[in-house]
Amino acid sequence: MSYNIAIDGPAGAGKSTIAKKIAKQMNYIYVDTGAMYRAMALFLIRNGVTKEDTEKIEQVCKKADISIEYRDGEQIVLLNGENVNGLIRTEEVGNMASVSSANGKVREKLVQLQKELAKKADVVMDGRDIGTCVLPEADTKVYLTASSAVRAKRRFDELTQKGESCDLDKIEQDIIERDHRDMTREISPLKQAEDAVLVDSSDMTIDEVVEKIISLCK
Ligand code: CDP
Repeated sequence: MSYNIAIDGPAGAGKSTIAKKIAKQMNYIYVDTGAMYRAMALFLIRNGVTKEDTEKIEQVCKKADISIEYRDGEQIVLLNGENVNGLIRTEEVGNMASVSSANGKVREKLVQLQKELAKKADVVMDGRDIGTCVLPEADTKVYLTASSAVRAKRRFDELTQKGESCDLDKIEQDIIERDHRDMTREISPLKQAEDAVLVDSSDMTIDEVVEKIISLCK
């Protein structure tokens, strides 16, 4: 049986940074489910679908083939065969992903793929509905959060480092809006699973969070 670690939480809580480090230390595979929703969002944007157009989201998402590959331990998201890793980390794509991920057809497709990945290998999977929906039987479940101000600052630093110009207040606003959408949507809303351990990383370093989660697995 494979060992599965589920990490859920709001935008900018540090899930991907933490999950990557845990995967490296434990020699597990890191599955970034947000990247899959982002790839789908990119496909929708490219096809001229707007956030308001729910029906079109359903139609167009059928034409997207999303898959995952690992090269040198790094997750590569393939959108109809194209490596889109370099194109999905923008605010535009993130905001679209937050809207299109509320769509049942979009989720059905991606959750299926995520379940298969976790069956085959020891994984650390992060997202919004991993402990509640994708891997309800996960061996370790964590709900990772931090204050919206701290999360906005982290996202700001990440984008600035990549040379993307951005505004801290606007980012915090986006984060609050996105959390609200993720937490109140009808299908698989973001919430702490009953058996998940709550970790608030506002005043913790990355390594402290990593150590804490690894200790939960033991
Ligand atoms: O990087 P950030 O935490 O902002 O977002 P992400 O993990 O890349 O995910 C982008 C969007 O995809 C989120 O705002 C969610 O709406 C959606 N998502 C989801 O619905 N379910 C997941 N398992 C992962 C992401």
